[in-house]
Amino acid sequence: MSQSIPEFFPAFRIHAADGFQGAAVEQISLDQLGLGEVVLEVEYSSVNFKDALAGSGKGKILRLPELNGGIDLAGTVVASEHADFTPGQKVLANGSGLSEVHDGGYSHYARIPAEWLVPMPAGLDTRSAMILGTAGFTAALAVQRLLDNHQQVEQGPIVITGASGGVGSFAVQLLTQLGFDVIAMTRKQEHHAYLRSLGAQDVRHSDELKSDASPMLKGQWGGAIDNLGGDVLASLSKSVKPWGNIVSVGMAAGVELNTSTMPFILRGVSILGVTSAACPQALRKSIWQRLGSDWLPQKIEAVCAAEISLQELPQAFDALLQGQVQGRQLVRVKS
Ligand SMILES: NC(=O)c1ccc[n+]([C@@H]2O[C@H](COP(=O)([O-])OP(=O)(O)OC[C@H]3O[C@@H](n4cnc5c(N)ncnc54)[C@H](OP(=O)(O)O)[C@@H]3O)[C@@H](O)[C@H]2O)c1
Repeated sequence: MSQSIPEFFPAFRIHAADGFQGAAVEQISLDQLGLGEVVLEVEYSSVNFKDALAGSGKGKILRLPELNGGIDLAGTVVASEHADFTPGQKVLANGSGLSEVHDGGYSHYARIPAEWLVPMPAGLDTRSAMILGTAGFTAALAVQRLLDNHQQVEQGPIVITGASGGVGSFAVQLLTQLGFDVIAMTRKQEHHAYLRSLGAQDVRHSDELKSDASPMLKGQWGGAIDNLGGDVLASLSKSVKPWGNIVSVGMAAGVELNTSTMPFILRGVSILGVTSAACPQALRKSIWQRLGSDWLPQKIEAVCAAEISLQELPQAFDALLQGQVQGRQLVRVKS
């Protein structure tokens, strides 16, 4: 089964027994990996907010004493004990317990339960799939949630907060491609041209969405995809027009939500959740199929800020956590 797999290979391993003990590239062997029916040679992974928290020790993400990091992976099957997957096939996985309860994608080889794997969608390859990664997947999931709850173009523009990040960059593209007007919110002037190039009609400062004690504010937006949480989400909930939807994706600026019931009762506003890690597999596959076909983002490469190696992960985590990254950092697993 492991004929073509070297006895030892590099992986970015996180040690977290009794708190964070450190993380670095180490030589590991196949028998150190979590169990699964499919072994693959990983080609690309990516850097997500959760990866940065796990790999830097700034957040408690691992639920086992040690694991390979990386919540995303894409590569080629090298051995399979499951009828749905054959050697040579291109596959991807995201979330589903990677780097939480199972070894993730920052490793030359990964062993994955077949039920977590997604066959590579027709319009994507391992590289483009990982520029998208969990961020692109979550943006698409958020758009799906908006549409499922009857969001219409005619209701007005959709606000996207934390717009220059991974989720934001793809949310801007997807909504623009679907005909919505997008208002991108960012803290930095230098992101304006980038966000307009992805399709945003207007770019504004995130400070426009401030905490306010009023139970309701003037209705301005058709809906929103929020990556920030806290006061920003509270402000959005009070300023979305009647029957608008807000998808709460992230908490880059806060975990609290201090709002009033008035927008829900008097305007029919909805706040919808998404969770990419625990997404049901049938929905996960259908979202990836859309990302590789009718929802294929037209500017995937424009979102790729850097292509890095496993050795460069610690600096990449720092940059992401300090809000210095525009778009996504792609990890080329094998140099
Ligand atoms: N629910 C899910 O399943 C799911 C999936 C993926 C990600 N997430 C979460 O969604 C959020 C976005 O993920 P991502 O991958 O897009 O992260 P990211 O690439 O780091 O982007 C987050 C963006 O938020 C803005 N930001 C960061 N810190 C901020 C702060 N303290 N105050 C105001 N703005 C801040 C920055 O945008 P500007 O510089 O443009 O202001 C940054 O680019 C994260 O919280 C992540 O954990 C959730």
